[in-house]
Amino acid sequence: MVIFHTISELRAYLNERKGLTRGIVPTMGNLHAGHLALIKQAKASSDLVIATIFVNRLQFLPHEDFDSYPRTWEDDMQALSHAGCDVLFAPNEAELYPEPQTYKVQPDSNMADILEGEFRLGFFTGVCTVVMKLFQIVQPDVAVFGKKDYQQLAVIRSMVRQFALPISILAGETLRADDGLALSSRNRYLSAEERQAAIFLSRTLRAMADAAGIPNADIQKIESDALQVMRNKGWQPDYLLIRTQQGLQPIDFAKREPWVVLGAAKLGKTRLIDNLEF
Ligand code: PAF
Repeated sequence: MVIFHTISELRAYLNERKGLTRGIVPTMGNLHAGHLALIKQAKASSDLVIATIFVNRLQFLPHEDFDSYPRTWEDDMQALSHAGCDVLFAPNEAELYPEPQTYKVQPDSNMADILEGEFRLGFFTGVCTVVMKLFQIVQPDVAVFGKKDYQQLAVIRSMVRQFALPISILAGETLRADDGLALSSRNRYLSAEERQAAIFLSRTLRAMADAAGIPNADIQKIESDALQVMRNKGWQPDYLLIRTQQGLQPIDFAKREPWVVLGAAKLGKTRLIDNLEF
């Protein structure tokens, strides 16, 4: 695996390999098996796999964990290399944002100002801006994003469609620990006791899905009951919602559209998100 920290070196390398199809896996590092599965997926659908590691300040609110976000450079490098990644692009902030990034990608508010966007204002502007920039630098044919960040995947798909970018977006399945907890870089913030309790988020989503499967289910009641159940267990949920997979809008069961249960909740100081598709 070759490693580049500057745009010019990466571009020079890619220019010499114009005939190869490129697959990009953008990450913020602190990699786990879920990321490595995305690398394998990119490898199966492109000649040259480029992983990026960049903790993107633009997508963090001032009170969020930008400074403490785990930076595990040595481990990440080893893991990517073992997973068969060809190129690692890891710019520093001065390289990617040499001047304040005043031109930004403003995603569709119907999709970006709900769910995560409601609780993390401007989050998807930050995500879309850095992803667009990485796409401009790497010029990939394929890009792989995990379904764990379900809304991010949906927003990026619509950005790519609306800007007519010639990039196929592939979705990576969520990897889970043995007890069902979705793998996430933020799981490492959990204490041993919290780690045991953390499975309750996906259990709640599953219970919501079961309840929603009953004919004439009252979706709003299922959602508000779930919020209460989580609060009673000591969690601070932001949202627990049942939405269409396409567009993430409230569901109308009569239309028989595929749906997804999405949740975000804080356990102690750690904010976890998860989703289940149906
Ligand atoms: O999912 C992430 O790790 C980040 O949001 C991404 C896509 C790398 C953009 O910074």
